[in-house]
Amino acid sequence: MKLTLKYIAVILIGGITLSSCSKHPDSPGYEYMPDMYRSQAIEAYVDYGMVTDEEKDTTAERLKNTQSARIPAEGSIPYYKKKNKAALMMPFIYGKADLDSASANWKLPSPFLADIEGNVKEGKRLFEIMCMHCHGKTGQGDGGVVVVGDYNPPSPYDGAYKERSLGGIFHVITFGKGAMGAHASQLNKEERWKVAMYVRTLQHGDFNLNGLTGNVKADTTGAPVVAAAVLGNAG
Ligand code: HEC
Repeated sequence: MKLTLKYIAVILIGGITLSSCSKHPDSPGYEYMPDMYRSQAIEAYVDYGMVTDEEKDTTAERLKNTQSARIPAEGSIPYYKKKNKAALMMPFIYGKADLDSASANWKLPSPFLADIEGNVKEGKRLFEIMCMHCHGKTGQGDGGVVVVGDYNPPSPYDGAYKERSLGGIFHVITFGKGAMGAHASQLNKEERWKVAMYVRTLQHGDFNLNGLTGNVKADTTGAPVVAAAVLGNAG
């Protein structure tokens, strides 16, 4: 009797062991509580649908062609502890088709950008990184990619676009216009306002908006020459 029980136990354990194997070369076979040692690692920027498992659950199928890094829900704003920063990140009330309304109704800089001089300066720095290659150093539409013939020249800022207000410029940067692409993913809202403030000085020669620090002149002096600095350090 004892012997029979032993046999049954051996056969059972052997059977379970053998049947827990799987033909799939990458599969470890049956796992007891796999979640304990195998987490569903999802890499950033991969297709969610690549996350498959042996259980053939429908999640992978459902999430095919969905990027794991999700787009924030519409209207969501980044969290900032500082009230000023948070206010600047609030959704822009004008949509893609509303360039003219944005330009007509949003003329003054946000009160949270009261340091006109500092913000224009930062706007200039960003302009030289993001816009100068098309619009040119002084906003004449003669940037590097235009000069080599890869782009049609945009109008000078002090020409046809001269009366585009801050809100209008912000709108163009956010949504793009014609051959100019949207820059909303490269510059956050605060940065876009600052660039717009700098563009204003290129349009008019100085900031000069309803008496707001009219003495902030357009400053088109060259960006710091990086090559020279590098060479200097190399010695
Ligand atoms: C790839 C080249 C390119 C880049 C980069 C670019 N622009 Fe433009 N931009 C254009 C072109 C082309 C137009 C003319 C669009 C039209 O009117 O159809 C234009 C038009 C504009 C206008 C005038 C639009 C209007 O109707 O008032 C503003 C203002 C402007 N750009 C600002 C910027 C700023 C600020 C940046 C950087 C954040 C920038 N652009 C980057 C090519 C570019």
